[in-house]
Amino acid sequence: MSLESPVLEIDPLLDDRKTRIVVCCGSGGVGKTTTAAALGVRAAERGRTAVVLTIDPARRLAQSMGLSELDNTPREVAGIDRSAGGSLHAMMLDMKRTFDEVVVQHSDPERARAILENPFYQSLSAGFAGTQEYMAMEKLGQLRAQDAWDLIIVDTPPSRSALDFLDAPKRLGSFLDGRFIKLLMAPAKVGGRAGVKFLNIGMSMMTGTLSKVMGAGLLRDVQTFVAAMDTMFGGFRTRADATYRLLQAPGTAFLVVAAPERDALREAAYFVERLADEDMPLAGLVLNRVHGSGAAQLTAERALAAAEALEDYVAEGAEGTEEENLAGAGIVDHGAGHADSRQDRPDGTDASDRTDMTDRTGGTERLAAGLLRLHAERMQVVARERRTRDRFVSVHPEVPMVDVTALPGDVHDLEGLRAIGQELAEGRPSAA
Ligand SMILES: Nc1ncnc2c1ncn2[C@@H]1O[C@H](COP(=O)(O)OP(=O)(O)OP(=O)(O)O)[C@@H](O)[C@H]1O
Ligand SMILES: [Mg+2]
Repeated sequence: MSLESPVLEIDPLLDDRKTRIVVCCGSGGVGKTTTAAALGVRAAERGRTAVVLTIDPARRLAQSMGLSELDNTPREVAGIDRSAGGSLHAMMLDMKRTFDEVVVQHSDPERARAILENPFYQSLSAGFAGTQEYMAMEKLGQLRAQDAWDLIIVDTPPSRSALDFLDAPKRLGSFLDGRFIKLLMAPAKVGGRAGVKFLNIGMSMMTGTLSKVMGAGLLRDVQTFVAAMDTMFGGFRTRADATYRLLQAPGTAFLVVAAPERDALREAAYFVERLADEDMPLAGLVLNRVHGSGAAQLTAERALAAAEALEDYVAEGAEGTEEENLAGAGIVDHGAGHADSRQDRPDGTDASDRTDMTDRTGGTERLAAGLLRLHAERMQVVARERRTRDRFVSVHPEVPMVDVTALPGDVHDLEGLRAIGQELAEGRPSAA
């Protein structure tokens, strides 16, 4: 028996005008972007004026939403049913451009130019750990300030851990505040090379080494860049703090997306606990890419037993054993087999004579055994996913959950997104 958890009800969440921000978090590759896009489509078609901020969407998904270029502003998505009065805009986060915009907005033109033209800006700005997370928060703050949408759905960057989204901006802050920066800036602050002798030995050795490795000119470029960033940083931090508070405000809902796998669900559990610590409102957990089977009444054990019996039969058949052995065991369904094979013959001839079909090589039996083994594997996956899920529920029985099944192909068009949205809304409890 599977453990029950409350059902996560998506439509009431999307329909509630007080819901202003939905953040889709989760560890890498679990379906955050897909879920965010699907929620966007559903919310818009249910009447919300929605915008979805995606991060690194797969190319085909981006194209289906009309996001062929990275221009860092929301564009209206074509093909949305607007009959309920809603609309959908979508954008892909362009990290570099968002960073540029921040620099331009928050420094005087001369300093902005000095930063943007600095040879280190491009590589360093993208390379800071947490830049992408920080820029996603920055963009969220901007979209909220524009006040053109009544619902903002935020995808979060691909990261190993769901917690990175909350931790990275702080980490970026401590990096910019941190020792490395002080080290680089030290000679500049105390008056260039002449000042180096006043520094402690460790530092002067470090800058000496850097200067040898990079050349004094390049080192100066780094120092200039870092000094400029440093003076801007107060602004960065203030806004990151403001966005952080926005995430705690009523009207924000976090959805944790997870695959029914141990690591993803463990991450999800950490994240749920962390949200509680931070007073950030959790709406629930989306368990994505859950496997099921239309023939769940045939257990893995019985399917495997049947496959083995069939294989034995084929092996014995080579020695001339009769099929009645198997038929007696109730494993071969002759009736169904005959009906199918008749349909397969357009000329209506009766292909039900099984010696005719298998030609004594056991082809049909082997195929059937192969299918039974595949079914057994699928049933084992289903059972494993259920155990993994139950472990999460036993730790967090209070967290509302919804399952989304694994579709046969990836999700790359509005139809696929609607199908995911439908599953999200059906609120099928995981134990069903
Ligand atoms: N329910 C599903 N059934 C089938 N395919 C799915 C499903 N959900 C997501 N996918 C596919 O899985 C892939 C990864 O999904 P997605 O990009 O949404 O994950 P992500 O969490 O955003 O990944 P990243 O951490 O890299 O940003 C995509 O190809 C997507 O189409
Ligand atoms: Mg993604």
